[in-house]
Amino acid sequence: MKPLRIAVAKGRLEEKTLVLLEKMGLDCTGAKDKGRKLILPIDKGRLELVLAKAPDIVTYVEHGVCDMGIVGKDTIMETAQSLYEVMDLGVGCCRMMLAAYKDRDFYHGFGIKTVATKYPNIARAFFESKDMDVSIVKIEGSVELAPLLGLADGIVDIVETGSTLRANGLEEKELIAHLSARLVVNIASMKMRKEEIDKLISRLRLALADDKEGEKK
Ligand code: PRP
Repeated sequence: MKPLRIAVAKGRLEEKTLVLLEKMGLDCTGAKDKGRKLILPIDKGRLELVLAKAPDIVTYVEHGVCDMGIVGKDTIMETAQSLYEVMDLGVGCCRMMLAAYKDRDFYHGFGIKTVATKYPNIARAFFESKDMDVSIVKIEGSVELAPLLGLADGIVDIVETGSTLRANGLEEKELIAHLSARLVVNIASMKMRKEEIDKLISRLRLALADDKEGEKK
């Protein structure tokens, strides 16, 4: 049988995912000293870890070339259309916020506001829910720059510690969503490989519960 493929976001979540997999009792030696390899064997080749950029994880899982994925809720909200989101892994916790200049009322005045973001779909849905017409500008990174440079009145972006906002004279104005890493599963895989996937999910639940117990002690 083909190994189950799990796509994982490169970078911040990668390390946390490996720790979780090891806690599940899976042999992760194949993922250590990986060099520039992008597909790594786990659990003696029964699983394959695919290292990809977050939005591509959704693409790979939706197309079924990866059975499962571990990806942030922000990416799911922004891009996902047809996959199962089966579990909140409780790691990589942060929030999607509307932020703007400190001590300034973002909503003041009648003119159409400009909002910069890496997440145009999330921003659009947020302002639509308020019946508010805004102009959205897509920025690829360091979104905090846009108001500083005078391009935008506010930003919709991820906040973790808040230090980037503070260091740049901005502040959180409104919470859009709580975010964390989620386990997602391809719709066909969920049917065709149900037994294996269910087993993996149970082991993951146990590892997470163990973690919580450990934190309490
Ligand atoms: C994210 C986010 C903020 C920053 C928030 O950016 O877009 O810029 O982290 O973190 P903080 O609240 O702890 O300061 P990331 O570092 O992922 O890079 P990017 O700006 O290039 O997207």
